[in-house]
Amino acid sequence: MSKNSQGLNGRLVFAISAAALGSAFQHGYSTGVMNNPQTVLEDWMRKVLQNRNGTRPEDSTITLLWSIIISIYCVGGMVGGLITGFVSEKLGRKIGLLFSNVFIVLAAICTATAKSADSIELVIASRFLTGINAGLNAGVTPMYLSEISPTNLRGAVGSVYQLVITISILVSQVLGIRVVFGTADSWPILLTLILIPCVFQLCTFPFCPESPKFLLISRGQEVQAQRALEWLRCTHDVHDEMEQMKSESEAMKLAPKVGLTDLILNSSLRQPLIISLMVMLAQQLSGINAVINFSTDIFKTAGLSDDASTGATMAVGLVNVMMTFVSMVLIEKAGRKTLLMGGFAGMAVSAVFLTIALEFANKSSVASVFCIIFVILFIIMFATGPGSIPWFLVSELFNQSARPTAASIAVFTNWFANFLVGLGFLPIKDAIGSYVFIIFIVLQLLFLLFIYKKVPETKNKSIEEISALFRQKSYE
Ligand code: GLC
Repeated sequence: MSKNSQGLNGRLVFAISAAALGSAFQHGYSTGVMNNPQTVLEDWMRKVLQNRNGTRPEDSTITLLWSIIISIYCVGGMVGGLITGFVSEKLGRKIGLLFSNVFIVLAAICTATAKSADSIELVIASRFLTGINAGLNAGVTPMYLSEISPTNLRGAVGSVYQLVITISILVSQVLGIRVVFGTADSWPILLTLILIPCVFQLCTFPFCPESPKFLLISRGQEVQAQRALEWLRCTHDVHDEMEQMKSESEAMKLAPKVGLTDLILNSSLRQPLIISLMVMLAQQLSGINAVINFSTDIFKTAGLSDDASTGATMAVGLVNVMMTFVSMVLIEKAGRKTLLMGGFAGMAVSAVFLTIALEFANKSSVASVFCIIFVILFIIMFATGPGSIPWFLVSELFNQSARPTAASIAVFTNWFANFLVGLGFLPIKDAIGSYVFIIFIVLQLLFLLFIYKKVPETKNKSIEEISALFRQKSYE
C-alpha cells in the first residue's frame, strides 16, 4: 500500500455525512426548489401586490420579481464565496460550517412567515440568506472533506459534496410537485424544509473533530491535531500521516501567509489559481443550470405534455444522482483530468445533437424522443466529472496557507458565472431559439482545450507533491 493509503471507517463516514449532508443539501435543495412552484408563487405575488396597490400588477412586474427571487440566490452565493477564506481561517472549518447555519435559521424564519405577512420581500430575503449559506458551504465543505480524507480517497470523498447536491436537487423537485408541497397553501412548508438538514448538522457535526491539517498547520496545535486524526482514522497508528502533515507545516512556517496579491503575483500560485477559476467557469458556462432549470421548458418546446415534461425532468435529476455516484467510484482510478476532459467533450457532442433534435422537435415525434435522450446524455456527461471535480480540485491545488483565499475567489467565480447564465439564458433563447446551445458548445470546447493543456493530474499525489509541481513549472 502507498503511504497514506487507507480505507473508510465508521467515524470517517460519520464525519463526511455530518459535514456534507447538512451543507451540500442546502445548496442543491435551494437550487432546485423554485422550479415546480413557480406558477403558484407568481399567483400569490400578484394577489399581494393587488391588495397593496389596489390594481392588478403588470405581468412584467411579476416576471421581474421572479427573476430577482431566482438570481438573488446566486448573489448570496457570491457573498458566501467571498467570506469563505475569512470564516474558514478565523473560525476554522468546523465552527465555520456550523456558523453558516445561522443564515438558514434566519432564512427559514423569513419563509415561514412570508405568506402570513403578505411579504414578497421576506421571500427575497430568504433566498439571499440561503445563497450566503450555500456559497459558504461550497467553499468550506470541500475544504474540510479533502483535509480529513486519506490521500488515496481524497477525490471520492470530495465528490460527496456534489453527490449530495444532486440528491437534494431531485428531492426538491419531487417535493415541489402539486401533489406534495407545490400548492398555494403548502409552498411555505416546501421552502422551510431547509431547517431539516440544518438541525441534522447541528446535532451531528459537533461530535466530529476539526480538520487535523487546520489544527496543526494553521493553529500549530500538534496534540489536538493528532487526536483528531486518530479519531478519524480509528487508530493510534497515525505516525506516517502526522509526519507528512508536519513536513507540510514546516514548509508553511518558512512561507509567509498568502493573500490575494501573492496569488496573482507569484507564478507558482498564479497557475493553480487560473486553473481553479477556469474549471469553475467551465462548470457553470457549460450550461448545466440552463438545462437543470429549464429542462421542463425544453421538453415542452420539444412537444411533450406538461406531465410528461415534469416526469422527464425527474428522470434527468435521477440520472444526475446515479452518474455522480458512478463518477465517485471511478475518480480514484481514472483520475481527475480524464474525467473532466471526457465529461466536457461528451457535453459538447450531446449539445450538438440536442440543438439538431430541437430544430425538428415540432415536426417529428421521433425528434422529441431524441431531445429527451440528448438532455439525459448531456447530464450524464456533466456528472462524469465537470459536476464534482471543480469543487474539490481547488483544495488539491493549493497548500494550507493559500487554500482559503483561493477557495474564496474560486467559489465566488462559480456563483458569478451561475448568476450570468441564469440572467442571460432566457433572453438569448428568446432571441435565437435553440441555437443558444451553440454558445455553450463553443465554450465547452475552449475549456476542454484549456484542461488538456494546463490541468495536471492530482490523483494519488500529496498536496506537497502538487505544490512542488507548480513551483517546478514556474521555473520552466
Ligand atoms: C454543480 C453546479 C450547480 C448545479 C449542479 C447540478 O453543483 O455547481 O450549479 O446546479 O452541479 O448537478
